Amino acid sequence: MSKIEEQYLARTARSAERGKAAEAVMPGGDTRAAGYHPPYPLTLERGEGPFVWDVDGHRYLDLVGNYTSLVHGHAYPPIVEVIRTGVGRGTAWPGRCEPQIALAQRLVERVSSVEKVRFTNSGTEAAMLAIQIARTVTGRRRILMARHGYHGGMDDTETGFFGSEGVHTLVAEFGRAESFEQVLSERGNEVACVVLEPVMGSAGIIPSPPGFLERVRDAAHRAGALFVLDEVICLRLSTGGAQKIYGVEPDLTMFGKLIGGGLPVGAVGGRDDLLAVCDPRAPRIFHSGTFNGNPLTTAAGTVAVEELTADRIDQMEQWATRLAEGLRAVAAGVGLPFSINHAGSLLNVFFTEKPPPATLVRSDGELITQFHLASLNHGLFFAPRGMIAMSTVMSDAFIDEAIERARGALADVAAGQV
Ligand SMILES: Cc1ncc(COP(=O)(O)O)c(C=O)c1O
Repeated sequence: MSKIEEQYLARTARSAERGKAAEAVMPGGDTRAAGYHPPYPLTLERGEGPFVWDVDGHRYLDLVGNYTSLVHGHAYPPIVEVIRTGVGRGTAWPGRCEPQIALAQRLVERVSSVEKVRFTNSGTEAAMLAIQIARTVTGRRRILMARHGYHGGMDDTETGFFGSEGVHTLVAEFGRAESFEQVLSERGNEVACVVLEPVMGSAGIIPSPPGFLERVRDAAHRAGALFVLDEVICLRLSTGGAQKIYGVEPDLTMFGKLIGGGLPVGAVGGRDDLLAVCDPRAPRIFHSGTFNGNPLTTAAGTVAVEELTADRIDQMEQWATRLAEGLRAVAAGVGLPFSINHAGSLLNVFFTEKPPPATLVRSDGELITQFHLASLNHGLFFAPRGMIAMSTVMSDAFIDEAIERARGALADVAAGQV
């Protein structure tokens, strides 16, 4: 056992004890694969602004904001206020409501490819709905996605996440348009839609190279397939989402995370004629959901979206740059190979000279694992795979403190290497 791990065990006794209780009733004591890490993840108790606290009473600088969804941090006062006001009027109504209309309006105003919206309760459900719409309008079954892309926990997209083709899933290589073009020229007549993130998120914040998205979209259209962009993470990159930055309009867009203001959410937006398959006056899909567009989520989400202004998006990008530069400098100071992928307010760190392509098995697996654990010991919380997301409630001082704590964590990692 490394010193880093010994220290983690010593400072998180109550988390460990709650982990045992969790293991008795949940497989691996867990209900969300992405955040799991050995020896056990922390048990958390509270979040406020850009901080979270564990049950052992430690405060952490939260550098991941519930995996990018808390773009305004924890318990953001304007969101707390709408939830507090709303909850007294009931949490879910079996009918349309004003906050739902407001959030749909915000998405239509902001994202130019979106004419109509349907709400779901997670990004996974948004993927399910987008794929169902594509299958309905094309009469085809297959989807084509990037190898190791993540579009939620459903079996058709999970196959591709793990890297292989499945019964309904074809895969091609992210960033290599010719790889998608080849699959589409050979098997395009089986493909209902191509699903892509403009910046691959969970695979390591990998931006699309110039021209990639256009070429894939054009190849999809030549094959008669829909082109779907997954903006569950990327919406935060501009007021119009990553599709505005890249100048590529998809047929359908998947949303999630930040548009719920911290509550569970998902949505599909897109062309009127495509979303029309869900129109209950002439439905081709029975798209329903007990909590779809519920008033609490949509009221919180409306505030989150409205308050994500262009200035704040720029400010978050500046903090991400400041953090990336600081991390590079401290890593160079301890002599570890180090690289960072950076897109706007999102970063992913790697202990390799250059960021790797999308992969599930990282060559720096041991180093990133040690750095993540050492960072927790130093009061820094981010995704075990090294993903970091800014929030609007950070500050220069917060970023500088994060760099100082990372300096300590990196020193521990370097000490463990000798
Ligand atoms: C790009 C992307 N799509 C879809 C999802 C699934 O969203 P959810 O976790 O809300 O089901 C995620 C979740 O991390 C995601 O990162």
